[in-house]
Amino acid sequence: MGDLSVPRVPLLAGPTPLVRLERFSRAIAPNGPTIWMKRDDLTPLAMGGNKLRKLEYLLGEALDKGADTVITLGAVQSNHACQTAAAARRYGLEPVLLLKGPRAVPSAGNLLLDRLFGATVLLDPRPPADWGERVAEDLRRQGRRPYLIPYGGSNATGALGYVAAGFELAEQLEALALKPVEIVVTSSSGGTQAGLVVAHAAGRLRAPILGISVDPPAEELAETVHRLATETARRVALPPPARHHVHVTDAYVGPGYAQMNEATREAILLLARTEGVLTDPVYTGKALSGLVDLARRGRWQPDHHVIFWHTGGLPGLFAYPPL
Ligand SMILES: Cc1ncc(COP(=O)(O)O)c(C=O)c1O
Repeated sequence: MGDLSVPRVPLLAGPTPLVRLERFSRAIAPNGPTIWMKRDDLTPLAMGGNKLRKLEYLLGEALDKGADTVITLGAVQSNHACQTAAAARRYGLEPVLLLKGPRAVPSAGNLLLDRLFGATVLLDPRPPADWGERVAEDLRRQGRRPYLIPYGGSNATGALGYVAAGFELAEQLEALALKPVEIVVTSSSGGTQAGLVVAHAAGRLRAPILGISVDPPAEELAETVHRLATETARRVALPPPARHHVHVTDAYVGPGYAQMNEATREAILLLARTEGVLTDPVYTGKALSGLVDLARRGRWQPDHHVIFWHTGGLPGLFAYPPL
């Protein structure tokens, strides 16, 4: 990224590991590709995850604007909200989380951590479309300086974290002389995939990105990713991605968002029992079930290398136990 004037605060401890999953690769398809994993579940705060990369830029902007409070929105078990609470604490900001869901809900998984971080948590089963703006306005009237982060941290500022992440992976691949044929990533609000698509369209990350939707229909998600990627590229004077740079499948949503299915359970257990690595039932386990299916259907050749980008979500394991 050429534009060094973009504010950013550090939340990562350095590049996340890129590891070869020998036993998992053989277990899913004996004559299939070699699967590698980019371990963004190992980012340092709140049990890790992709949102910390976005929050480096989002909180950078919040502090640059003089904010003292950050507001964000999500589902009850939002990994994004939980990581926002942790990162806000790290930089002395007050976290306010607006979560869609029943008002009486047990403190488990991410919600337990939200409360542990002392975030102000508001729950509403049917929140208004402008909930964030309304709460920001109330806080301003009380003399606070709130900074509003959208769902999933997915705007052109947050997605910069994944442009940088794409560049980070490109360097790791160069060092290993590795040329993967595809990078598979969980996609939902689209910012993670959008950032990677920008790194790919800029020619730095050679492999194309396949987003596996855990919620939105493919066409809708592809549009979102393309729009976000275009805005993000413009922000840092990189070439705008073409629509054909965006690949999305919604074939693995199963019964619906946060609804467990047998394929997801199988994928979670297989990875845990071959590599000792955890994935979650809502995001990464579901996307992993897609990768397993695509490998078994022969999408990739035996001499191909494929990267699964692990985006975290582990607190979800304790809210939606797969066993
Ligand atoms: C664990 C995990 N993986 C992937 C994603 C998807 O990232 P994005 O919302 O940027 O598409 C999320 C989003 O909440 C997540 O929590």
